[in-house]
Amino acid sequence: MSVLPPPPANLARYTERRVLITGGGSGIGQACVLRILAEGGHVVAADISPEGLADTVTKAGDAGERLQTVVMDVGDEESVRHGVAEAVGLLGGLDTLVNAAGILRSSHLTQTTLADFELVLRINLVGIFLVTREAIGALQDGKGPAVVNFSSTSAHFAHPYMAAYAASKGGVLSMTHALALEFAKAGIRFNCVQPGSISSGMTDGTGESRQSVGPGLPEDADYSLFGKVAPMLPLDGGAIFAAPDAVAGVVAMLGSDDAYFITGTEVRIDGGSHM
Ligand SMILES: NC(=O)c1ccc[n+]([C@@H]2O[C@H](COP(=O)([O-])OP(=O)(O)OC[C@H]3O[C@@H](n4cnc5c(N)ncnc54)[C@H](O)[C@@H]3O)[C@@H](O)[C@H]2O)c1
Repeated sequence: MSVLPPPPANLARYTERRVLITGGGSGIGQACVLRILAEGGHVVAADISPEGLADTVTKAGDAGERLQTVVMDVGDEESVRHGVAEAVGLLGGLDTLVNAAGILRSSHLTQTTLADFELVLRINLVGIFLVTREAIGALQDGKGPAVVNFSSTSAHFAHPYMAAYAASKGGVLSMTHALALEFAKAGIRFNCVQPGSISSGMTDGTGESRQSVGPGLPEDADYSLFGKVAPMLPLDGGAIFAAPDAVAGVVAMLGSDDAYFITGTEVRIDGGSHM
């Protein structure tokens, strides 16, 4: 049975497009895979987690015939070199790259190890550099090529206990702007999304990000510091986290020809929590 979210009527923007999505085994990356498949795309979902990728294939249902998977660690140069080459080979080219893979580690500054700080930067920021560098040649030969990177509301707005994560996402924002200009004349568009308060493995405690750090925030976290993270827009049942498809629809737009005149910018998707 397919659990693909139905795209709005008549939206089939990806029937001619070949798409690589990192972090495609969970949460928002998985929602992007399902959304772009629902719009007719040919997709390679890449992730460090084979179990996550298997879950994505199951959820793709019949559309799974246009979905292939590659196990890849975005923080490892060799893995990225092989993984991107394999993905481009499977797709026969590349038109859209979605860099969604990421992790969260949160802790007090004084309890943050150098290893954890560097790991967050390695996966969230260096990972996007590595994947994009390996994919850029194929994108240059693609149709209406576009890259959508994952920044975060934490790039612009203070999120306590997340210095490394915020720094990585600020870096993604700046890198996206730099690459947008560098490749503007080549016609490759670079944009980023800045989600906030989205239900995913990262925020509900089921994902990789939580496995090594328990429930997430430090046990003695001062929750009064989080006054600005609750969405203002109403969600079903009074929920405070939106479903991942709230982001996937925007990613699908930015990665398609609908966004042909948009580059070097960002879209915040947080239900108005940071207005
Ligand atoms: N959920 C939110 O509220 C929120 C807010 C802002 C930004 N984001 C960003 O959205 C993106 C998706 O995260 P999510 O919230 O869906 O979390 P998630 O944990 O559900 O998904 C992250 C995926 O990335 C994969 N991944 C982790 N390390 C990897 C590696 N080294 N190589 C390849 N894949 C790896 C994981 O296996 C997982 O499938 C991340 O970049 C995250 O920082 C999420």
